[in-house]
Amino acid sequence: MTPSPPAPLPLPVAVLVSGGGTNLQALFDALRDARAARVTRVISSRPDAGALERARRAGALTTALADPASADEVLTALGDARLVVLAGYVKRIPPAVVARFRWRLINIHPALLPAFGGAGMYGRRVHAAVIASGAAVSGATVHYVDDEYDHGPIIAQWPVPVRPDDTPDSLAARVLEVEHRLLPSVVLELARRGAPAVPVRLSAVGSAFVAGDTLGVELEQGG
Ligand code: GRF
Repeated sequence: MTPSPPAPLPLPVAVLVSGGGTNLQALFDALRDARAARVTRVISSRPDAGALERARRAGALTTALADPASADEVLTALGDARLVVLAGYVKRIPPAVVARFRWRLINIHPALLPAFGGAGMYGRRVHAAVIASGAAVSGATVHYVDDEYDHGPIIAQWPVPVRPDDTPDSLAARVLEVEHRLLPSVVLELARRGAPAVPVRLSAVGSAFVAGDTLGVELEQGG
């Protein structure tokens, strides 16, 4: 197999979105002055996604897909991206795109996979299912994308407590805060490693069970 050319710096990152794009915003904010990675392209499954406005404000190239099931259209929109991030993207990624970006295509999910994932498990439904299960801990997961929803190998996770009086909305807000820290940390770490075409596992260090606004998310090398 021919080795891939060295990754350019900053690493061009494409983000796929379907909604408001607060994770996209967290990436813009965290990568603004970073040398390792830059969000250069934002691709939406719908033309009215709020995330597109954030992308325009940040000066990224934007595409609203006419047909998210078209591998050709998605690959054209991804252009020269070396790492692809699904941040609230609800459409299936065409298999040819998954194959082309193997180990360079990642997703953030608002629960601790492999629980509470799969087809139809997105948005409020995830948090409602966590609360209904009686689980005391939820969290955020960043994982590689394969051909099944929420299924590829896990890169990093961060736990979040479920409180007895939580509603799906209150739990979603607590998890989202952690997502905004975890996703940029993972993207930066993968970029620093040159977006390797092999799976990486990163371990979170520290504790999310702290008082006040000091939700620290740090990653250390796990492999
Ligand atoms: C996040 O909870 C993410 O984990 C899930 O979709 C939501 C997207 O939110 N995949 P936003 O559009 O980034 O605000």
